[in-house]
Amino acid sequence: MPKLSFRDLDPNGKRVLVRVDYNVPLKDGEITDDTRIRASLPTIQDLLDRGGRLILASHLGRPKGARNEAFSLAPVAKRLGELVTGKVHFLGETIGAKVEEAANGLAPGEILLLENVRFFPGETANDPEFSQQLAALADLYVNDAFGTAHRAHASTAGIAQHVDQAAMGALVERELRYLQGELEDPNRPFVVILGGKKVSDKIGVINALLEKADTILIGGAMQYAFRKAQGHAIGKSYLNESDVPIAKELLEKAEATGTRLLLPADSLEADDFSDDAKTNNIAPYAEGGKIRDDWEGIDIGQKAIEEFCAVLKEAKTVIWNGPMGAFEIDAFAKGTKAVAEALAASSATTIIGGGDSVTAVNKFGLSDQMTFMSTGGGASLELLEGKSLPGVAALTDQS
Ligand code: 3PG
Repeated sequence: MPKLSFRDLDPNGKRVLVRVDYNVPLKDGEITDDTRIRASLPTIQDLLDRGGRLILASHLGRPKGARNEAFSLAPVAKRLGELVTGKVHFLGETIGAKVEEAANGLAPGEILLLENVRFFPGETANDPEFSQQLAALADLYVNDAFGTAHRAHASTAGIAQHVDQAAMGALVERELRYLQGELEDPNRPFVVILGGKKVSDKIGVINALLEKADTILIGGAMQYAFRKAQGHAIGKSYLNESDVPIAKELLEKAEATGTRLLLPADSLEADDFSDDAKTNNIAPYAEGGKIRDDWEGIDIGQKAIEEFCAVLKEAKTVIWNGPMGAFEIDAFAKGTKAVAEALAASSATTIIGGGDSVTAVNKFGLSDQMTFMSTGGGASLELLEGKSLPGVAALTDQS
């Protein structure tokens, strides 16, 4: 059932509680990446322009249900104030009489940012009383916290039952469009690129997309579980032993479904996980290439780069989740960079499915050349697995 959109609401003069995901990285109290704050602006600005009085709620980190100033949203309030037109109030409180008074006193076009909802155990417990206390601050509710939509918490799901109308925001709409809608009947060839460490973390996504994709490219450390399953020597490369039988099963399944599951033809091996490590491009596995006993595979190799880029050149829809190698170290960034550049040059719909691949695309300065970059990590994966997100499921049905 389609859900109500913030566009369907009449916010004029109303108190609108917007759940945002301001779980931003901080270093010495300074925000090091404000992407998530910027991503919340279209919904906020639209509701402000239509006369809404906004109460924003978010978590930051995992303070485990107790007040902890290291996880305060105070730095976010400051940054938000620089980015929006309306005045931003921040009391350092989340619920209670003082907050209710401030919410009631908001003028149209003003914002009250609540303190971290996870300072209360009721948030992650999805406690109805805490949900009600949050709902008491507002007339309408909008969930635009895509990155937290896979959590059934008080401010993401429980609250929806205590307001007349609960709608999704612009960011959640866009994320659903690209991570769900576009993939229902994708333009083909449809190519999925998966990286990351563990096969077990991605098994749900691989299973869900095996039926749909034309080609799945596997990179990152998880490739070694596949190579081990095929009997190749992988030296000291990262390996989660329990991933080997899973990888074997996936290889068999791919063969049965006719989906091309392409492993990197070769690897870059290194004697150390550092910038000044000695490195060597091994011969292709198919020609007997192997990783030395005391070395580790740390990036995809040159032949793999060429093969992957050739596949990407033909693609019409691409979704990418997980880097090809340890791109945070320049010496091992070549494979990830080549994939990012191939996507930037492509006219396909290019969807970057959250987490480290987004960090990589940003690092290479290519973000404005992608069709869509997700703000979610776990939430994107769950959506790609075909799971329903509690933060969306709880919203009011469109009648
Ligand atoms: C994220 O950063 O992935 C989201 O904000 C969710 O955070 P959580 O994993 O602590 O629930």
